[in-house]
Amino acid sequence: MKAKGKVIFFGEHAVVYGYTALSIPINLSTNVNIKKNDNLVIELKNLNKKLGFEEAKKDNDFRYIIKAIELLKVKEPFFLSVSSELPVSCGLGSSASVVVATIRALSKFFNLNLPKEEIAKLSHRVEREVQGKASITDTYTISYERALKIRNNEFSFIDEFEKTVREEKLYIAYVEEREMKTADLIKVVSEKEEKEEIFKEIEEITREALSSDVERIKELMLENHKLLDKLGVSTKGLNRVVRLAKKFGCGAKLTGAGGGGCVIILGDLNEEEKELIEKIVKSLYLA
Ligand code: MEV
Repeated sequence: MKAKGKVIFFGEHAVVYGYTALSIPINLSTNVNIKKNDNLVIELKNLNKKLGFEEAKKDNDFRYIIKAIELLKVKEPFFLSVSSELPVSCGLGSSASVVVATIRALSKFFNLNLPKEEIAKLSHRVEREVQGKASITDTYTISYERALKIRNNEFSFIDEFEKTVREEKLYIAYVEEREMKTADLIKVVSEKEEKEEIFKEIEEITREALSSDVERIKELMLENHKLLDKLGVSTKGLNRVVRLAKKFGCGAKLTGAGGGGCVIILGDLNEEEKELIEKIVKSLYLA
């Protein structure tokens, strides 16, 4: 069973404190396959790891999957294999995607017929239990596979916003590996004295973006990025890519928790501009 990734267009971090975030699903996905087996074995293909359940419990890389299996209380043993097109831990929702794909696969294998709402709820519970504070943004966007507005852990669909954004090309620049985990970055933000003022400014930008045309959305992305930098979650590498994309007339901002990871770039890039960006990032995807 597959699950997509996501990008947050506006409002990351602020959303953890009850402000608004806008997110859309992207076409890079995680695949989870389950088949019968005498023992419960989990394979993470991208990391070249294959462990039995008890050993996997002691390995951090398996914790989201273990938590999902434990929550569903499934008894029969099986072989579960995970592979993903999403670069891990870089703001594209790879953990949420693994969790949603795992729960979908378990639901199918054990004939649980879990509806979307239940998969979204369970996935969010897994994320919260593994990483502490977590908004519903990643798990719900991926479970519903639709653009969402999230506020106070409630959501609504924003198909019009996605349509507006999709008038332009959307690139994802995987800039660098993240130095810190989401939970640690959330902690950095929690310790920022002026966080509430910054969140309020982000909120205004996010609300304006929802009813703006694509040109204005590009400007607002740059403004949101500046505020994320102020919150302490950007890096030199991310700022450099955002500056270059701005020079090429695009909107750009870090996406997700920050501390490295990815920048989203909205707008057309010619071959030369693409090459210049590719020179300073790990990879550039068309999302
Ligand atoms: C992570 O993709 C986005 C954050 O806002 C955390 C969350 O919403 O749980 C940083």
